[in-house]
Amino acid sequence: MSDFTQDWLSLRAAADERAREAADLDGQVIETLGRRGGETLRVVDLGAGQGNNLRYLAPRLDRGLGRPQAWTLVDSDGALLAAAEAPASPGMRLATQRCDLAADLSAAPLAEADLITASALFDLVSAAWTQRFAEACAAARVPCGLFALTVDGRLDWSPEVPEDDEVAQLFLQHLQGDKGFGPALGADAPQALADAFEAVGYEVERRDSAWRLDPRDADLQRALVEGYREAAQELAPARAAEIDAWAEQRLHHIGAGLSAHTVGHEDLLAIRRAD
Ligand SMILES: C[S@@+](CC[C@H](N)C(=O)[O-])C[C@H]1O[C@@H](n2cnc3c(N)ncnc32)[C@H](O)[C@@H]1O
Repeated sequence: MSDFTQDWLSLRAAADERAREAADLDGQVIETLGRRGGETLRVVDLGAGQGNNLRYLAPRLDRGLGRPQAWTLVDSDGALLAAAEAPASPGMRLATQRCDLAADLSAAPLAEADLITASALFDLVSAAWTQRFAEACAAARVPCGLFALTVDGRLDWSPEVPEDDEVAQLFLQHLQGDKGFGPALGADAPQALADAFEAVGYEVERRDSAWRLDPRDADLQRALVEGYREAAQELAPARAAEIDAWAEQRLHHIGAGLSAHTVGHEDLLAIRRAD
């Protein structure tokens, strides 16, 4: 079991989809993969969870390329993998591989892939792991990497509450705790990922994929407030009462249909330069 529940991953899927559509890297992925030959498109999704990335990307690749797809979902959480279902698409094949990527990156089938992808993974990993991963992709001559929804540290709310900045800073600090890969990159991840891939011979394109949540996203906003409350109180127990008051005010604004919240993310496309 990981810290990520099926409920949480389902709750975020609609916001993820809107953010990725706005980031608009799908066309470039399709163009890059379209230039390569081969019949079946082989995609490896790291930290795939219950397959949100698969359900987002596979239909778009199908519309853009019209080729059969073979996906391998890699994750350490067998229960999440067991819940993954592929969208209907001609020639779609789905395999899962349970593996701890922190302990054994070499188990990931990088060399067989036309596209390596991940979503909401890189803020959890360490700088050293990111560098090893980019080097492994280069050594395996992976042609294309698409890494979506990496947290970049922007957290804004409307209406504002006095403790917003304090809670945001505590949450971002908490994000850099060890998630099994060593000290996590948290909001430093987009830059570290870009630097790591550029250093090993990839062209990198970065796009804004922030969640821009409004009153229609009340359930997701409520879940986020509870996550921020828990993280902030863990790091600053002496401020527990003020953080509770902050959370109650935020929940009140959500309940009143007034709350908007931005969570900054980046999508990154890495394309291997010709030798
Ligand atoms: C934020 S979730 C994202 C899941 C999925 N990519 C999505 O967008 O819905 C992070 C995922 O990374 C997986 N994960 C965390 N540590 C891992 C590890 N050491 N090895 C493999 N997967 C891991 C978790 O189980 C979880 O499914």
